Amino acid sequence: MSLKGKKILLGVTGSIAAYKSAILTRLLVKEGAEVQIIMSASASDFITPLTLSTLSKKPVLSRFQKDETGVWNNHVELGLWADLFLVAPISANTLAKFANGICDNLLSATYLSARCPVMVAPAMDLDMYQHPAVQSTIQRLESFGNIILDAESGELASGLSGQGRMMEPEHILAKVESFFASKAEFKGKKVLITMGPTQEALDPVRYISNHSSGKMGLALAEAFLSRGAEVFVISGPISLKVNKGSFRWQDVKSAKEMYEAASELHSQMDICIFAAAVADYTPAEIAPEKIKKNDVTLSIDLVKNVDIATNLGARKKQNQIHIGFALETEKEFDNAQRKLIKKNFDLIVLNSMKESGAGFQLDTNKVHIFHASGLSVESEILPKSQIATLIVDQIKNIPVWV
Ligand code: CTP
Repeated sequence: MSLKGKKILLGVTGSIAAYKSAILTRLLVKEGAEVQIIMSASASDFITPLTLSTLSKKPVLSRFQKDETGVWNNHVELGLWADLFLVAPISANTLAKFANGICDNLLSATYLSARCPVMVAPAMDLDMYQHPAVQSTIQRLESFGNIILDAESGELASGLSGQGRMMEPEHILAKVESFFASKAEFKGKKVLITMGPTQEALDPVRYISNHSSGKMGLALAEAFLSRGAEVFVISGPISLKVNKGSFRWQDVKSAKEMYEAASELHSQMDICIFAAAVADYTPAEIAPEKIKKNDVTLSIDLVKNVDIATNLGARKKQNQIHIGFALETEKEFDNAQRKLIKKNFDLIVLNSMKESGAGFQLDTNKVHIFHASGLSVESEILPKSQIATLIVDQIKNIPVWV
């Protein structure tokens, strides 16, 4: 894939692997990328700014002020300019700075300002790489959504042999290319996601609801967004921190409101994900005043709610994809397969209630994915963001997508 027009900020830190940054710069530039290099102070002990500026065809930046250009280097502008911030090699020291928000040079300040995705390629000795301090730092960066390019195994500068070598420049280039390819995967596609619980009012102060947190739906919304889709979210009441501005976001309360909003959008959508935990029943009447506790028992008449997935499934066009969820406590596989057919889904994601580490409110999940075509996939217990990636990846196996 050509990288023409892609703007890449390449951070280089103090490591013997810094000499490979020259090869990496050459490869990126050859593929058409515009590369702006920022070096940490100790990087220049390993490679000269002159080498890197010659290869990148741009002055190399390293300080807030008075670089060789004599101009003020604005880390905020740099952070906004880039499509990708790649730090290769990243030393243990810079990893720790990034993980802890330490901001003592242009590179670490740019990291904090960058709005674009961040990729880092660690390079260090094998024992340093395995140290719990480094491993937990790497995990911390992963939790920020940064992409870690795992160190490769082989001979190290220390003379030892093991994992710690910076990923080879050709492999980094392949990662960068597939990153940009995946960002364009759903470009021009409209994706609708229902998520969160619904609230069915009983009276002006009470409602019936469930424990859905909306975490899985939000992880899916973010996964589609990162792959270039226009994402329409219809969310029941949730308490997650969300940047709603990135999405076409609508908040609703009841199943009826969720259905009306989804119904309005459905015909324009390419993909619909039914991740909401919709209340199956709703009070037949909403009491106009707060219900008083006058009697020993209280009965409330409930009526069936509209089934959003089934209704929209009946209207599904040939080129539309519908994905549903199932949460079962018995005959899990049979019930999920039954729902797949009944609701006209192309695939259904079965949440396992029986596994620890899976279910409502948690940050992890374990699922089985069943396709209408008969194909099925089982996941490990994984963070919901990775489950979302797995689900999105399955779309390429749906016949209408191909
Ligand atoms: N769903 C929906 N509207 C409803 C109920 C469910 O869109 N009123 C969707 C859910 O978002 C999910 C799928 O249908 O994708 C299955 O939901 P689930 O609650 O497991 O199934 P139900 O049809 O409600 O069946 P039951 O509660 O009897 O298991």
